[in-house]
Amino acid sequence: MCGIFGCILREGSVAPQILDGLKRLEYRGYDSIGVATIHSGTLEIRKDKGRIDEVSKALKISEMKGSLGIGHTRWATHGAPHMINAHPHTDSKRNIAVIHNGVIENFMELKQELIDKGHDFISKTDTEVIPHLIEEEIQSKKNLKEATLAALKRLVGSYAIAVISSLEPDTIICARHESPLVLGISENGIYCASDVPAIRPYTNKVIYLRNGELSTLKLGSYEIIRISDGSPVERALEEIKWNIEEAEKQDYDHYMSKEIYEQPISLRNGLRLQEQYVDLITQFLDRGKEVLLLGAGTSNHSCIAGSYIFSKLARLTAFPVISSEFIEVYGSSIGIDSVILAVSQSGETYDTLKAVDHARLRAATVLGLTNTVGSTLTRVSRAYIIQQSGPEIGVAATKTFTSQVIVLTQIALKLAKLRGKLSQDELDDYEKSLQQIPDWVDSVLGSTNKKVKAIAKKYLNTKLFLFLGRGISSSTAMEGRLKLLEITYVPCLAYPAGESKHGPISVVEDKLPCVFLCPRGSTRSEIIGSIMEIKARGALIISICEEGDSEIIQLSDDVIEMPKGIPDLLSPIPYVVPLQLLAYELALLKKLDPDKPRNLAKSVTVP
Ligand code: F6R
Repeated sequence: MCGIFGCILREGSVAPQILDGLKRLEYRGYDSIGVATIHSGTLEIRKDKGRIDEVSKALKISEMKGSLGIGHTRWATHGAPHMINAHPHTDSKRNIAVIHNGVIENFMELKQELIDKGHDFISKTDTEVIPHLIEEEIQSKKNLKEATLAALKRLVGSYAIAVISSLEPDTIICARHESPLVLGISENGIYCASDVPAIRPYTNKVIYLRNGELSTLKLGSYEIIRISDGSPVERALEEIKWNIEEAEKQDYDHYMSKEIYEQPISLRNGLRLQEQYVDLITQFLDRGKEVLLLGAGTSNHSCIAGSYIFSKLARLTAFPVISSEFIEVYGSSIGIDSVILAVSQSGETYDTLKAVDHARLRAATVLGLTNTVGSTLTRVSRAYIIQQSGPEIGVAATKTFTSQVIVLTQIALKLAKLRGKLSQDELDDYEKSLQQIPDWVDSVLGSTNKKVKAIAKKYLNTKLFLFLGRGISSSTAMEGRLKLLEITYVPCLAYPAGESKHGPISVVEDKLPCVFLCPRGSTRSEIIGSIMEIKARGALIISICEEGDSEIIQLSDDVIEMPKGIPDLLSPIPYVVPLQLLAYELALLKKLDPDKPRNLAKSVTVP
């Protein structure tokens, strides 16, 4: 889970563009960075542990010469964050430099084989075997492309790589297998990168490489071939419609706050789905003997919300399942009658794609819901929907959660209609409420911020938070917990409120803050019972409830009031917003960077 960037320019030196590209890829990892350029036939590498700004300043990376180069921002998998483990890695003669995103599973045996042949290794990484394998192949008179092709055939695992060599100073070779890679073409240069935002300032013309493909980049030309047999691949350029401003922070201090405040827009976009795709997905879901909703992290929480929505609106039982558990739980029982709806913002999450591959091998129907056009999930799904949230850069998912829920709700409504499970009036009411969601979120953003800030201040030094909700609000509670713990590092628990008396209540002690999700709905009397149970044990109650809900307000120590009239089933969307803000504000008070939580990366493309 790292970011890679490569480019060849017609004019000027590449180092500043590489640094700019790496900044845009920092969300993929940020424990070390490195850049390699070729100038006057010589390979130069500067790299170290640390954030891009500090390393590039200390090593004067922007002053590196050369119009061809590659750069890497790392999230450690093999070998601690350290200068010697930072990419690029080289061969023994330091002619070849390689950057890599992914995991080489058989690197230990390859490394031993290469050591036996006299290669010297410096790092603890899996990546370092790649330049040495290429070096071996070059010794048998292959050019850089042929040597890389032969080396890739020896690798087991996942990779997106870019390779340069002082022996062929006008070429970048890049390739992918299970890690994303996109090419960009402009008048002034040619690019490869892990993700579109890195190259978007320079071009809107891109080509998504697919698994098992290798590309040779030279100024003014590119060639794509299949790694398996070297056969050529013809693929047209795609035009990216969104501009870089949409992926930048604008006036916000952090991407996370920008993305939280963008939700009225992203939700409106999420309501503009292409009907024919919703219809297609709906038909596949309707035919399934069993339906599973697959996702990791926040996407799993959308699936949990989705399971309530599908059951209540369309009378369809849809089991939410965590991607990394899917094969163990359902791997042996799914088959041709199973329908798997995989939910993934990036469309590249390793655990989700692995589960999807398994499901496809067992002839299940795979459907996708993702935010990323051209992602692996879109290519392996029988039908897919793009949630249209726009790029999400902050590591913590915010706007993409609410968009996923609004898309799942629309699919459920279509399904309810198809199956005749709701009356016309009920359908109309839900449709009307759905259209109101962006405005409700807008008003929540305007009305709750001050209160949230005060709550964050009050609980700044709290050591544990408990989140409870009933029914669909248990998904909101889980998402609120994940936001708070991942960016403030404060341990948090979340449970369906009815479960609290089966164990979690034992952690309740004097002044423990407990966040209750209390939209009006069928579980109201039970949630009041749970509040009283927890309050009786000394906890401080922070409730998120409907405006003027006096019964809940009286029981609470702190209250965040939400607009009236939000149906319980749609409540996760507006009710999660103050929880996103709470996590953000608390992170700021703790002087943490909410966009770059420690140990996390935006897209988890490794096992
Ligand atoms: C949490 C978060 C992660 C992702 C998870 C799945 O804020 O962002 O938990 O939700 O890694 O990612 P996608 O949706 O890209 O599959």
